[in-house]
Amino acid sequence: MRGTMVDFIRSDVLPAILGRIYSTFGIDVKYFFLPRIICTLAEGNIPKNILTNIKGNERRTHGSLNTLVRSRDSDIFFFYDNPPHCDLIDMPTATKNFLTVLIPLTRRDQDYAPLFSENIVPSDKSNFIVQDANFPPRGVLLYGEDKKLSRVLPSVGDVIVWDALSYHAVKPNLSSKNVYNLRFNLAVGDDSSGVEDSRNIYKI
Ligand SMILES: [Fe+2]
Repeated sequence: MRGTMVDFIRSDVLPAILGRIYSTFGIDVKYFFLPRIICTLAEGNIPKNILTNIKGNERRTHGSLNTLVRSRDSDIFFFYDNPPHCDLIDMPTATKNFLTVLIPLTRRDQDYAPLFSENIVPSDKSNFIVQDANFPPRGVLLYGEDKKLSRVLPSVGDVIVWDALSYHAVKPNLSSKNVYNLRFNLAVGDDSSGVEDSRNIYKI
């Protein structure tokens, strides 16, 4: 995965994405970090006892299944779902000045792990979806169960971008197939990442 990411960083795709981010947000990104494949498992592929455990835990704040996966240092993150949250909860020591980029590798329509957000909108007719620049300033709450989230319906290969304080959520995958996405983060400085293991940070 890391080798593949180095190829990705050197490809034409990343500069194209960074160019769009600069023209849309005015952010000159210098660091690329935590590249991962995110897999939202089809509910039918999750063992029944684990499913019962997840559904019975009303206080859970995330739907990660990684602690249950044998290879814990995998670059694939497995999820059942993801309740409303801001990505700053993943990087609490970050400066908030980072972005998340999600690229669906498989479909996200119908029952395929529906993605919801408070303020992510298509930027134009191209396959680039960003947070709404006119959205009012947000508070510091990191969880937003009471937030009104709207479904985002990206196509395979779309590039979706949001900032560290943007609420989003993923509903359980009730389709018959696992859902895969490429996800990584971008920042203007290495202090923005909150990542301690430098192997996860790439200067670009
Ligand atoms: Fe997230």
